[in-house]
Amino acid sequence: MIKLGVNIDHVATVRQARRADEPDPVWAAIEAELGGADNITFHLREDRRHIQDRDAAVLRSTVATKLNMEMAIAPEIVKIAMELKPDQCTLVPERREEVTTEGGLNVSKLRKKLAPVVKRLKAAGIAVSAFIEPDADQISASADCGFDAVEIWTGGYAHARSPEDIETAVVRLIDAVDHGIDAGLVVHAGHGLTYRNVEPVAAIAGFCEFNIGHSICSRAMFVGMREAVREMKSLLLRAEQRSIVDDFAPAPSTRRAAE
Ligand code: PXP
Repeated sequence: MIKLGVNIDHVATVRQARRADEPDPVWAAIEAELGGADNITFHLREDRRHIQDRDAAVLRSTVATKLNMEMAIAPEIVKIAMELKPDQCTLVPERREEVTTEGGLNVSKLRKKLAPVVKRLKAAGIAVSAFIEPDADQISASADCGFDAVEIWTGGYAHARSPEDIETAVVRLIDAVDHGIDAGLVVHAGHGLTYRNVEPVAAIAGFCEFNIGHSICSRAMFVGMREAVREMKSLLLRAEQRSIVDDFAPAPSTRRAAE
């Protein structure tokens, strides 16, 4: 069954706007789980612009589902991850000037730096995922580097506007899933997914986890976190159900021939 990871960073962004103690991302995580989240994702950035060290520690002891820590491979952050022991670490590129993570890790280029970090995290019992673009070389490099999983960047799909560009982006994602599975990796997806655009991606067989933050936190402002998560989860499950039915229903021409 498709899993939904809810990224609660933006709840902390609102809190940090006032350097206050509300809204609390830990509370958001509990509400998200009550709405059906299968994992809680947070990104402990080097500049601590949203999630703080205290949040990471409290999330570790309160999240009842799976805790996924997004992180750069900066030594200070790796040390925190080794002590915190989230269930999963998703390694991402990080630039101070960026508003959000802008694209995937260049695993092919960073292989020498990434491999020892992956090894250490895995030895600590943490599953390790690489956030990468839907690119065959990056997927193969991730498998070579020892990653358990890859999270395919869906930003290219989310930013596409014309029907042709959207179709091209979907085909890239389908190829990436196939390649990832062939390479023995678990395949996740995330970035830029919203209530409006998630279904065609969720209908791609093989993606098993979607990590979604901005859209869910935005909707939560109006309907509450629990309801926002419930709505996103039902879109994912509906898309998955449709793709299963498509797989099993004979195409109309076959059906006619059989009659
Ligand atoms: N996955 C990764 C690796 C990310 O860096 C982000 C953004 O923090 C997300 C998923 C969620 O993206 P969005 O906020 O656009 O849903």
